[in-house]
Amino acid sequence: TTILVLNGPNLGRLGTREPEVYGSETLADIGERLQASVPDDVVIELRQTDDEGELIGWIHEAVDRRVPVVINPAAFTHYSYALRDAAAQLKTAGVPLVEVHLSNPHARETFRHTSVISGVATGVIAGFGSDSYRLAVDWLLRSPS
Ligand code: DQA
Repeated sequence: TTILVLNGPNLGRLGTREPEVYGSETLADIGERLQASVPDDVVIELRQTDDEGELIGWIHEAVDRRVPVVINPAAFTHYSYALRDAAAQLKTAGVPLVEVHLSNPHARETFRHTSVISGVATGVIAGFGSDSYRLAVDWLLRSPS
C-alpha cells in the first residue's frame, strides 16, 4: 500500500515557522514518525511544495495511480478552486482524500474558517498537531478498498 502525503506552501518551514501555532517538529520529523507508525508494507510518500501547479499535478498523479491522499493544503485550503477541482477528480475516481491541518483553522482568523477543499474531501482532521496526519493515515489503513 502506498499513501501520498502532500503538503502545501510554507509547510517546508515547519520547525521554525510560528512554533507556537504549528509545533517544533519539522516536516521531515513528521514524515519519519508517520513511516514508523505504519506496517512495513505501507509506503508513505511525503512531499511538499510551495507551488500550486505542482500540487495539482500530484493530485492528478494520485487519480491516475489510484493512490489515497492525505493533504495539508496549507493556505491553498482557503482559496484554491484549482486544487479543489483536482481533488474532485479523486472523488469521482472513488479514491479517498483526507484533508488535514496541524492547527484548528476554525479557532483562528476568519479567512481560515472557509475551506474550498472540504466539500470534495472524504473527511477532515484538524487541530491535533502532527497527530492529525497520523489519524488520517490510521483511518486510510482501516478503511475498505
Ligand atoms: C494549516 C492552516 C492554514 O490556515 C495555514 O495557511 C497553513 C497551515 C495547518 O496545518 O494548520 O499553512 O493548513
